[in-house]
Amino acid sequence: MSAFVSQGTAGGGQPLRVLVVDDSKAALAATLSVLGELPGMTIESCVSPIDAYALCSRTPCDIVLLDYAMPELDGIGLTRRLRELPGHETVPIVMITSSTSSDIRLEAIKAGVNDFLNKPFDPVELQARVSNFASLRRAQLELASHALHLEQAVELATAEIVAREEEIIWRLARAIETRDGGTGQHVSRVASIASLLAAGLGYDEAHCRMIYLATPLHDVGKIGISDKVLCKPGRLTPEEMAHMRQHVEIGVRLLEDGTSELLRIAAAIAGGHHERWDGTGYPAGLKGQDIPLVARIVAVADVFDALCSERPYKAAWSLPKAYAEIIACSGTQFDPDCVAVFRQRWPEIVAIMHGKEAADDRSEPSVVEGGWVHGARTLRIVGERRQTGRWSPAFMDQGERN
Ligand SMILES: [Fe+2]
Repeated sequence: MSAFVSQGTAGGGQPLRVLVVDDSKAALAATLSVLGELPGMTIESCVSPIDAYALCSRTPCDIVLLDYAMPELDGIGLTRRLRELPGHETVPIVMITSSTSSDIRLEAIKAGVNDFLNKPFDPVELQARVSNFASLRRAQLELASHALHLEQAVELATAEIVAREEEIIWRLARAIETRDGGTGQHVSRVASIASLLAAGLGYDEAHCRMIYLATPLHDVGKIGISDKVLCKPGRLTPEEMAHMRQHVEIGVRLLEDGTSELLRIAAAIAGGHHERWDGTGYPAGLKGQDIPLVARIVAVADVFDALCSERPYKAAWSLPKAYAEIIACSGTQFDPDCVAVFRQRWPEIVAIMHGKEAADDRSEPSVVEGGWVHGARTLRIVGERRQTGRWSPAFMDQGERN
């Protein structure tokens, strides 16, 4: 195997890498001597087609000139193998052969040979052919480079659009939460927990991301709820509660008929996040799997964070107490599968609530005499049984404002 670089570079770019393969050292020397006069090329040679294939496997060539009759692997076999190598799909391959058999030439073309030169070759013709293929190869490389730049520009522009879309979502969510006395942290945590639960339930990364971005809009309908009701510190009257519940329909009206999957998910979440697994939720009283899964996921995340948050009408619950409440409401208020993942992902949820990385302690918390106990199995359920016969967190009686 040998290589040398001829003087100058065609078009001012990198020298093209030309590989000559011939088992005859004399023929190889003659070819190299002619090609050495061409500018802008690195000429490499192999007497073994196996070595040539290995060379191309390591670094793609720009032009290949090969003999037809060679031991181990003929020119047609080598061409077939080269065409399967990444980066060699369009590389010009020229066969130098003394054979005039049309069958051989046809088979060579089918294998991927682009052109033929007769042996013994005319030096002027060889230089002209190789120069033409060098021009073709440079055009191919420039086109590929241009396509790559375009692809990168499109990716960049798409990323900017996505980033802008995400920023608008978060600013809108923050604006809604600010009306409710929050700072945007609630929707941020709910989105993170919902995404975590979605991953645990088998959603792929792209959908988890969409759920993460759609979740902050779950209460967008609160934009249509009066401050008097939204910010009321005490218990809501039945009329006020009915008004508060309208945030679901208002949210759906704002988000429905979206052209993107993100908006369709957001609408499903907004419309279903107050439905309950047992069918006693609102606005439609949907039951079980009739409730969109994304809404069942957000219901768990939203109620959990609402329980842990201080509101004008309630104090913040401790994490263990809120955890126990979510577990207690599995199968009634919440989808048992979502609650199961909630339990599995508890360390990561705690980390989200504390705004840090997940702790190593993966044990389950329990509420015992109002305190934190890791690893214990006994749960003391905090809640009360209403006339409907279902468990309900105390804050839900304040008007289901999450
Ligand atoms: Fe809500």
